[in-house]
Amino acid sequence: MIPLILTLAPLRGFTNALYRNLYSAHFQGIDSAISPFITTLSAKQVNRSHIRDILPENNHSMPVVPQIIGNDPAGFIQLATRFHDLGYKTVNWNLGCPAPMVANKHRGSGLLPHPERIAAFLDHVIPRISARLSIKTRIGRIKKEEIFDLIPIFNQYPIEELIIHPRTGIQMYSGEVDLTTFGECLPLSNIPVAYNGDILDYDSFVRLKERFKSVSRWLVGRGVLSNPFLPELLRYGKETIHQPVERFKKFHDDLFDAYRAELSGQSHLVDKMKSYWLYFFRAFENGESVFKKVKKVSTLKKYDEIVGRFLAEEATWHQG
Ligand SMILES: Cc1cc2nc3c(=O)[nH]c(=O)nc-3n(C[C@H](O)[C@H](O)[C@H](O)COP(=O)(O)O)c2cc1C
Repeated sequence: MIPLILTLAPLRGFTNALYRNLYSAHFQGIDSAISPFITTLSAKQVNRSHIRDILPENNHSMPVVPQIIGNDPAGFIQLATRFHDLGYKTVNWNLGCPAPMVANKHRGSGLLPHPERIAAFLDHVIPRISARLSIKTRIGRIKKEEIFDLIPIFNQYPIEELIIHPRTGIQMYSGEVDLTTFGECLPLSNIPVAYNGDILDYDSFVRLKERFKSVSRWLVGRGVLSNPFLPELLRYGKETIHQPVERFKKFHDDLFDAYRAELSGQSHLVDKMKSYWLYFFRAFENGESVFKKVKKVSTLKKYDEIVGRFLAEEATWHQG
């Protein structure tokens, strides 16, 4: 039987160490996580605050692969070496970020139309780092065919894993995932391929598994933020989740307390929790209406009142 390896995808602003640790305390099913990206710093020394999210003392719950974004080989080597010194055996290179501010500077997905730059980068970096390298990519920045020029390059290096999110950079996070192109990548890659994109529920995952029978590695991102039981569901099937609202409430309350301890000022805390509700609300039958109210909240008192009442009395779970 093909093993099932579930990795928590990096979601900057959301799946940081605080979240990862709490997640593991409340839910099961995730094998490891890739951390949200850390940017290369050319010439400057890397200090602890820059890499705080992956410091071992902040990561005690699940195996983590730190992710680096950048196109500067020297900066990459510096960060990857630091991560290796901290005990990380693998680092991940972000070739997927679609944000124009990033991609226009030829970072993230902005490098994908430049296979020669990617080859030169790998040529320089791989012999100079002790950590193994994994890559997280999209199928292109502008055109989906870009990936077909890249896979033969990746194949020439000892890359541990190739994670493919089958969208182009200019698609950002919307529009369909291109499963046909993903399927075409599989026989071309000598590197183990992981699938990432829009795994939102059990049924869609079963269809993906049926279609891509050779794939054992799956990254789940927004689906987990919305429904933290998703990895349990994907692993153990549909009927396993008991008392989801109560369990979610405990997780929510711990997340709230952890951010309260970390953030200064109530508006930062309220804004942070509101940003999570952008995903949380989707897990509830009646989530839409509470989300409309949460969006307007600006004080902790009001947040507590609306979310507290919702989770204690009104919420109906809809996924699972
Ligand atoms: C808010 C947000 C932040 C993200 N941050 C990162 C990041 O730091 N590094 C990265 O490789 N991908 C990042 N992504 C992309 C996700 O890891 C993932 O590839 C994408 O959301 C598709 O998977 P999903 O449908 O399971 O979420 C981010 C996506 C979102 C929505």
